[in-house]
Amino acid sequence: MKHSLFTPLAALLLGGTALACTGFAGVHDHFLPLNGTFAIKNQIPLNSAGYGISHFGKGAYMITDGAYQTLILVSTDGVIVVDAPPTTGRNLQHAIANLTSIPVRYFIYSHSHADHAGAAYLFANQSQPAVTTIAHTNTAAQLATAKDPLRPTPQITFDKTYTLVAGNQTLRLSFPGIGHDLGNILIYAPRQKILMMVDQIYAGWVPFWNLAASLYIPGWIDAHDIILSYDFDIYLGGHMGGAGNRTDVETQKEYVTDLYNNCAEALLESAPGGNPRTDIAKISEKVLGDNPGNVWAQFAVYLDAVAEVCYEKTSEKWLGRLAAQDVFGFSHARTMVSSLRLDYDVLGPNGVRG
Ligand SMILES: *[C@@H]1O[C@H](CO)[C@@H](O)[C@H](O)[C@H]1NC(C)=O
Ligand SMILES: *[C@@H]1O[C@H](CO)[C@@H](O)[C@H](O)[C@H]1NC(C)=O
Ligand SMILES: *[C@@H]1O[C@H](CO)[C@@H](O)[C@H](O)[C@H]1NC(C)=O
Ligand SMILES: *[C@@H]1O[C@H](CO)[C@@H](O)[C@H](O)[C@H]1NC(C)=O
Ligand SMILES: *[C@@H]1O[C@H](CO)[C@@H](O)[C@H](O)[C@H]1NC(C)=O
Ligand SMILES: [Zn+2]
Repeated sequence: MKHSLFTPLAALLLGGTALACTGFAGVHDHFLPLNGTFAIKNQIPLNSAGYGISHFGKGAYMITDGAYQTLILVSTDGVIVVDAPPTTGRNLQHAIANLTSIPVRYFIYSHSHADHAGAAYLFANQSQPAVTTIAHTNTAAQLATAKDPLRPTPQITFDKTYTLVAGNQTLRLSFPGIGHDLGNILIYAPRQKILMMVDQIYAGWVPFWNLAASLYIPGWIDAHDIILSYDFDIYLGGHMGGAGNRTDVETQKEYVTDLYNNCAEALLESAPGGNPRTDIAKISEKVLGDNPGNVWAQFAVYLDAVAEVCYEKTSEKWLGRLAAQDVFGFSHARTMVSSLRLDYDVLGPNGVRG
């Protein structure tokens, strides 16, 4: 599958046969079918109201609308809610009221993003009883800047770790450093051995667009090992309608490692005389010839060509193994190429001149 940006230029550069373009940038229906894959089988069924609940035991539940996840812990001192995606919205309140008569007393922000926290006010602004809200210091700063009535600033903040003990339940919160967001935290329920870190691991799927739209890719990559240092049986990544486990974390780590290696190789072989598809001298000559003085144009074509080679190499192993490699795989290659260049100093032909 080719994305639309690259294909016409590739055809030009290679002087040849234009490949069928389904258009990464456009909506189309030519993606691989997911029937029978773990990604689909792992989804729990939704009720007629549009949500489903997994019961993990010892008062721990996941509520999902099929695309987003909320963690619920029922304690003798009130219900603890982690995240309130707007798409699940008021169904969260319905689901909790159907589970227990114990009221919600604690709300935790996994991170600042509106797609996971846009219904936070349903709990944060509850008055009877009042709800204690908790988030990382950086998340609090982001929410203060956002001034979003749907995501009120938290009452309790922490820099490194915070342990919430509520009646018979314990949640350990920990900040691993900047990665997906400025203040994305690990949320660990030791009694149930549940670990939640949102927008980090996607059970059965490649990550969401651009390596989970993360702010700092090295931090997001390092979080894989931090997660694996925990003793957990159930993993919640905040996305899709099914929980994951340790195997899913290891699988995604392998995917990201392959992506890193393939993109590094693609950058290194893009030197003059290297891979003819990404040869920076050939691309510059052609694009600058057609667009005199347009340095950004030659750079854009070059970087996308490198990402394309990385994407194709990665797809050889992962297409069909993790769902939606055909959907988001190119965006991941592009993001990894950029991070390799800027964060990891793998500049290929643009390194220190000899
Ligand atoms: C995929 O699933 C859909 C909906 O359940 C079904 O109609 C279709 O026949 C399935 N296709 C294959 C190839 O199994
Ligand atoms: C804590 O208490 C709640 C409410 O009674 C119960 O549902 C849950 O199973 C208990 N959890 C643990 C870990 O004992
Ligand atoms: C239980 O769930 C249903 C369906 O979402 C909802 O209509 C009903 O109001 C809920 N019950 C309570 C007590 O909230
Ligand atoms: C929630 O409460 C905050 C004050 O804590 C207020 O600024 C905000 O407008 C409220 N949001 C809604 C949706 O009522
Ligand atoms: C994780 O779940 C998958 C699918 O259900 C299973 O095959 C695998 O053995 C599980 N891994 C662990 C460590 O439990
Ligand atoms: Zn996010």
